[in-house]
Amino acid sequence: MDPINLFDYESAARDKLPQMAFDYYAGGSDDEITLRDNREAYSRITLRYRVLRDISGRDLSTSIFGQEVSMPILVAPTAFHRLACEEGELATARGADRTGTILILSTLSTTAMEEVRAVAGGPAWFQLYFYRDREATADLVRRAEAAGYTAIVLTVDAQLWGVRERDVRNRFQLLEGLSMPNLRGDMSRLGAADADSGLAAYVAEMFDPELSWEHVEWLASLTDLPVLIKGVVHAADACLAIEHGAAGVIVSNHGGRQLDTSVATISALPEVTEAAREALARDSRESAEFSVLLDGGIRRGTDVVKALAMGADAVCVGRPILWGLAVDGEDGVVRVLELLRAETDTAMGLCGATSPHELREMGPDLIVRPGGF
Ligand code: GLV
Repeated sequence: MDPINLFDYESAARDKLPQMAFDYYAGGSDDEITLRDNREAYSRITLRYRVLRDISGRDLSTSIFGQEVSMPILVAPTAFHRLACEEGELATARGADRTGTILILSTLSTTAMEEVRAVAGGPAWFQLYFYRDREATADLVRRAEAAGYTAIVLTVDAQLWGVRERDVRNRFQLLEGLSMPNLRGDMSRLGAADADSGLAAYVAEMFDPELSWEHVEWLASLTDLPVLIKGVVHAADACLAIEHGAAGVIVSNHGGRQLDTSVATISALPEVTEAAREALARDSRESAEFSVLLDGGIRRGTDVVKALAMGADAVCVGRPILWGLAVDGEDGVVRVLELLRAETDTAMGLCGATSPHELREMGPDLIVRPGGF
């Protein structure tokens, strides 16, 4: 039977992928507590829906930084798509385009950013890792801008690599012939083949552990593109992001792959949106000037609805896209996104809302958290 939900895609992908690739995508750090809690936190939140509100005219489209998307669901940055299928990121970009949404391309893609941009019809964003080599980092940003990416997403929760024990056990390496063509020379190849995890060795050597808010200002001065900070779970960091010129944050714990036992993203979201709202109001700025997105654990339409009601402008999905890619390439990506769209549409309507905007307006009134988070 064809997969009918995102969990089915995961099982089908597990059957198809080599163990090392599946484990790399699926795994989290240490005991994988955050990986699980990103999901489980959604079942601790219940919906206090409204009725008799004429939900016939539903429309999921929205815009972020003036960039139109057909639904408030973006494709999160994830590395190495050619481990999932031959066409890799090209298939993902085409799938995102056919679905009317934005792909956030990882620095660690297995296809060059220019080639990916060329097949992505609509807007696409570029996720940036900050390298010790500042010129190489600047080069990535300039190339992304020149290629036509429309936002930069700076990941800030991974300057030290979480220990992903599945990768250590598998001695994770890229398959023969795959590299990271966004980077040049040695930077485009994974770390020592005899390392516990080639990726962990690479990060230890290449990523800059000095990364701080000063680097964010430097980045914002380097580009006219909106800069989002990905990896925020604390109200104070949301305020600092605003202060240092970021255009938005992605509430993320890197899919439970970095600091294990860190707070589930949906649990962190309310303090981040609240702090951002207050900080913008203090500066007499419109809330539309700053976007809050969330990733981690989104598998159902009700998850999307909860995130929006709790103040997110949109969500990003990571692993399910890789499962779609592994099962059926570009068509699999489309199907995963369309399943999530259909579920979100149903959940939104059954809550008594007809648009993402209306869900955000209904806000906390929709949400019940028995016993808090
Ligand atoms: C890459 O960003 C990873 O988390 O492996």
